[in-house]
Amino acid sequence: AGLVVLISGRGSNLQSILDACADGSLAAEVRAVISNRPGVYGLERARAAGVPALELDHRDFADRASFEAALAERIDRYAPDLVILAGFMRILETGFCQHYRGRMLNIHPSLLPKFRGTHTHERAIAAGETEHGASIHFVTPELDGGPVFAQAVVPVLAGDDADTLAARVLEQEHRLYPQAIDWCARGRVRLDGDGVLFDGEPL
Ligand code: GRF
Repeated sequence: AGLVVLISGRGSNLQSILDACADGSLAAEVRAVISNRPGVYGLERARAAGVPALELDHRDFADRASFEAALAERIDRYAPDLVILAGFMRILETGFCQHYRGRMLNIHPSLLPKFRGTHTHERAIAAGETEHGASIHFVTPELDGGPVFAQAVVPVLAGDDADTLAARVLEQEHRLYPQAIDWCARGRVRLDGDGVLFDGEPL
């Protein structure tokens, strides 16, 4: 399967995807990486892997709609089977989400439906959670609200701060996302209406 990966920053999840494609554990190829922030480290990771690395600065556009039109045009040049959001920190409007419905995945650093949005690690600690983690979901217009089909759970330990907890979750993200993408790439997981089928069975 062909992937286009959208990033906004350091790209450690992108790296785990590139590595899994290279070692054959993920049945896919990254056709392009696009960042809405110029100069981020994730773009260097793409270039180092020989993958086209594109910058598309959202600040160069008058509004969300024109940015998203340009983004979709770049993505569709590479005709990906899947669009992978990997630390992509822009909200995407309904039309864009509909265009890629069933073909666009996101990783979110919480056990959804808990803690949608940002600062998930701080909020999990403040809420006194004993478990936290990461979720993979199909992207729908509702922010971090699309159908979830894979999660990794970690303990919240006494003395954790947002950084120690984030590091524990991130280690799991790097294992979870390539696995989840592989399921989609092989057609084992797919969106069916508002639900997810795993090997043809409702989750
Ligand atoms: C990850 O924790 C991801 O779940 C969140 O943003 C972070 C991105 O990290 N949405 P990286 O750019 O993949 O290193």
